[in-house]
Amino acid sequence: MATRPVNFSPGPAILAPPVLEQAARAVVALDGVGLSILEISHRSATFEKILADARDGIRRLMGVPDTHEILFLQGGARGQFAQLALNFLKPGVAGAYVDTGAWSRYALEEAGTLGETYALASSKEQGYTVLPPLAGLAPRAGTGFVHTTSNNTIYGTQWQDLPDFGDVPHICDMSSDIMSRPVDVSRFKMIYAGAQKNAGPSGVTLVIIDRDFMESARKDIPKIWQYRIQAKKGSMFNTPPTFAIYAVGLVTQWLEAQGGVPGITAVNEKKARLLYDAIDGSDGYYKANVAAWEHRSRMNVTWRLTSEELEKTFIAEAGAAGLSSLKGHRDAGGLRASLYNQLPLEGVERLVEFMQAFKKSH
Ligand SMILES: Cc1ncc(COP(=O)(O)O)c(C=O)c1O
Repeated sequence: MATRPVNFSPGPAILAPPVLEQAARAVVALDGVGLSILEISHRSATFEKILADARDGIRRLMGVPDTHEILFLQGGARGQFAQLALNFLKPGVAGAYVDTGAWSRYALEEAGTLGETYALASSKEQGYTVLPPLAGLAPRAGTGFVHTTSNNTIYGTQWQDLPDFGDVPHICDMSSDIMSRPVDVSRFKMIYAGAQKNAGPSGVTLVIIDRDFMESARKDIPKIWQYRIQAKKGSMFNTPPTFAIYAVGLVTQWLEAQGGVPGITAVNEKKARLLYDAIDGSDGYYKANVAAWEHRSRMNVTWRLTSEELEKTFIAEAGAAGLSSLKGHRDAGGLRASLYNQLPLEGVERLVEFMQAFKKSH
């Protein structure tokens, strides 16, 4: 573990060594059971407890109120783009989307195949390097929900104050910053996230949903896509992704040991400050894609060098120095460091040292 590269991958992303070690042991045999997590029935008392522990961990960490269900589903966040539309778009009921990046746009387009959708605001024209102003914008009559993306993984913007749309239900894709900072869950009718960035491995999608909102959904769609059915069946209408749920439970335990969400928020702020300061203090050698601190993501920091050639050299030399997965997304280009919860501060310190040395030598 000591010689592992620092993993800046945008997802599937870094997992803390204690999580990996415990997960590896459980793949061979669960403590006190003797069988692998991969081979026990999801109906067994052992797995029911694993799922309940993971759910309770999320409830405690995020302060999820009793009004909301926590579901473990499959199909990733993209699956949710479609599932939420299937449930909540109806004839005469539209979905409003705040378009802050490629993932928001995919969410809007996917839902658009199932019903009426529109962009309430967009920062597409600014290359998604800012968040669009929302003051004075109201969803039009007949809007069933407003959809936002809390953190834009590709471009590196993040809502520091998540917007409020009054009485119109707010659905938020928190795939790339869930459990990385305090969020008042009661303000949202639904939150969802692919687990593979902050919450665990790929294969499980977290959905936190208000029960009354869930009950207002369509009932004339296949059962497998109804949140209500999955809630009634304790996320076991179909066989759930047992290993991924187990690993999410381990991540919640790890997170509690770091002082929970307040503890990890402090570390996340420090990591982001350190890296943005290194970029901003480089006399223009490095240039952040997102200028304003209040729009800057604490999770995905994106920046450029003066030429694509130099960026390629940077990525190659960083890789050789044990700093892995720093290539930016093809839509944004340049470099991206993902600083999710389980990436330690020392990882960013090593990156910053490397950046200073690289600047001197190139
Ligand atoms: C904000 C956001 N939403 C959605 C997705 C898509 O997630 P999935 O691959 O789980 O469908 C991603 C993936 O990076 C993302 O960052």
